Amino acid sequence: MPDAIFKIFRGDRDGGELIEYQVPIAPGMVVLDALHYIQANQAPDLALRWNCKAGKCGSCSAEVNGRPRLTCKTRMDALPPNEPITVQPMKSFPVIRDLVTDVSWNYRVNRKIPPFTSRPGVEWKMYQRDVDRVQEFRKCIECFLCQNVCHVLRDHEQQEQFGGPRFFVRVAGLEMHPLDSLNRTELLKKELGIGFCNITKCCTEVCPEDIHITDNAIIPLKERVVDNYYDPVRWFLRKLRKRGERAPA
Ligand code: SF4
Ligand code: SF4
Ligand code: FES
Repeated sequence: MPDAIFKIFRGDRDGGELIEYQVPIAPGMVVLDALHYIQANQAPDLALRWNCKAGKCGSCSAEVNGRPRLTCKTRMDALPPNEPITVQPMKSFPVIRDLVTDVSWNYRVNRKIPPFTSRPGVEWKMYQRDVDRVQEFRKCIECFLCQNVCHVLRDHEQQEQFGGPRFFVRVAGLEMHPLDSLNRTELLKKELGIGFCNITKCCTEVCPEDIHITDNAIIPLKERVVDNYYDPVRWFLRKLRKRGERAPA
């Protein structure tokens, strides 16, 4: 196989440039193998994250030819031959160095979400269909590729108002759990800004775990928010409840 030309971002939060490297390609190679080759032979100071090399830890996320991907799951033979391959850090997060970004904002969002809280006095029994429904959401490997591609974060930089698809997936797993007792619709509306999502499905397209983020998590959650806030009967009942709370004892 001919050598491949890589153009890799080298730099930090103050700026950088694409540097060219030539890599001999062997059958079965993935982009992460090429990055390791470069690190071993040409640029020992190239910074990149990885752990499992099996598509399970979610740490090798980057933009390959402009598309968010796990580098350990991107096969060289799936990329256009005889064209330089660009590898850049995820655009939605601040660069620390080279391909390593600061994703700590995601963990701050995560802390806003109340965890699973069981219903008191209910028998711990679940139907298989309920298990199957939430199981999809538990497949998330926190690669943050969906967060990276979502235009609300990537182009409009609404990090303060919007939680992003990864966290709608987490909330869906909790809200659709039959033994959970909390209602997170207020959090979804006010703090995670689910209304900003215009269901473009870009997040679903890049998810390496094939989670149907938009159809199975975001749309049902949006429906719950609408039911809770805009259903006229619920609206009237909420008003009555609030009036009752304000009435003198
Ligand atoms: S569907 Fe919503 S969350 Fe997903 S990328 Fe589009 S705007 Fe973002
Ligand atoms: S939902 Fe999919 S794309 Fe988003 S962080 Fe989880 S595994 Fe990655
Ligand atoms: S190295 Fe773990 S997902 Fe790629």
